[in-house]
Amino acid sequence: MKFESKTVHAGDRKKASGAIPVTTPIYTASSYFYESMDQLDRVFGREEAGPSYARYDNPTCTALQNLINELEGGHGTFACSSGMMSLHVAVLAALVDRPKRVLAGHVLYGATTHMLLTVFGALGVETTFVDVCDLAAFQAAIDEVKPGAVVVETITNPLLRVCALDKVAAITKQAGAQLIVDNTFASPMLMRPLELGANMVIHSTTKYLSGHGDVLGGAVISDKENFETLTSLVRTLGPNLGPFEAYLTMRGIKTLALRMEKQCANACKLASWLATHPRIARVYFPGDPAHPDSATIQRLLPKNTYGAMLAFDLKDAGRKDVFAFMDRLQMIVRATSLGDVHTMMLYPAMASHRDLSPKHRERLGINDSLVRLSTGIEAIDDIIADLDQALAG
Ligand SMILES: Cc1ncc(COP(=O)(O)O)c(C=O)c1O
Repeated sequence: MKFESKTVHAGDRKKASGAIPVTTPIYTASSYFYESMDQLDRVFGREEAGPSYARYDNPTCTALQNLINELEGGHGTFACSSGMMSLHVAVLAALVDRPKRVLAGHVLYGATTHMLLTVFGALGVETTFVDVCDLAAFQAAIDEVKPGAVVVETITNPLLRVCALDKVAAITKQAGAQLIVDNTFASPMLMRPLELGANMVIHSTTKYLSGHGDVLGGAVISDKENFETLTSLVRTLGPNLGPFEAYLTMRGIKTLALRMEKQCANACKLASWLATHPRIARVYFPGDPAHPDSATIQRLLPKNTYGAMLAFDLKDAGRKDVFAFMDRLQMIVRATSLGDVHTMMLYPAMASHRDLSPKHRERLGINDSLVRLSTGIEAIDDIIADLDQALAG
């Protein structure tokens, strides 16, 4: 081989010597070939498993997909470039051959509401919102709207409501619609919506699954019914997660159970402490016995594991007071996102629900005094001390 040919071929694509790497390597190749064209033909035709082109398949992403699929109990999983992208393809898949109408929970991540209204709205998809924690209202809405898809969150963002997902799934199925569940806040450790009757589950893997604040990603986990449609959409549109991000996400998931256990325990302690603080008007936490969905929470979530998200209203506070309080935080990170190892605080009116009008936010109960806290894995005493000094200021 001449020098210039060696520069292109030497060293690369060595056959495995029999050794098995303990972690899946990062495969960056955009395309693959086989010993024979016949074999490549079979791979392209999906008669034989294997990568052919990175928009269809990437070994690092496949490893992550298989992992998430196992955790959620799916038929198949697609790793996507973001949580929003995974929701986008799930809604597209659900509506391909169904009525172009969506019935959605009335309190959702702000960008989800925005996407349904503006992106799908512009394509002629009509979205109606309903309180899915009120089953009678949900039944009435589904009878009236006759949607192709229903979109809900397991634990809602930011007010932490928990609907009776198994009952919502039964009603949705009866109506011939597809149930898409955003399981980002619960993670598959707390709830597995496919087991409760959902058709597709989506995650912002940016959050609990990766867990370290260093990677953006999403996943859609499908039942058997939607798998082929999703496969076709993903292969055509290319919403894929990159291999570096897949590697980081997989690395993060290895400690999901440990992190989640500690984060949930910290959140329980924090909720009790906040509830007695004179500067706090109201705490929103699924572990609160007075939570409006308490019976459902006790039924569907594992015992003493209520997630690691909290929200609270500061007493007699407006935007300026909340900003001043947040500026005083010394350890807690004032940043958008959640689910990371570090405790984070976010102001929904400015960040996660910024896209909604002030009136819309007010109707949903997202007050200007509301902050959202994602509990990390730090020592609980340090989290409390930081909040205490910031509240005292
Ligand atoms: C519940 C929920 N779903 C979806 C998303 C979107 O995820 P991503 O930012 O990875 O697109 C977020 C982001 O905060 C979220 O909180």
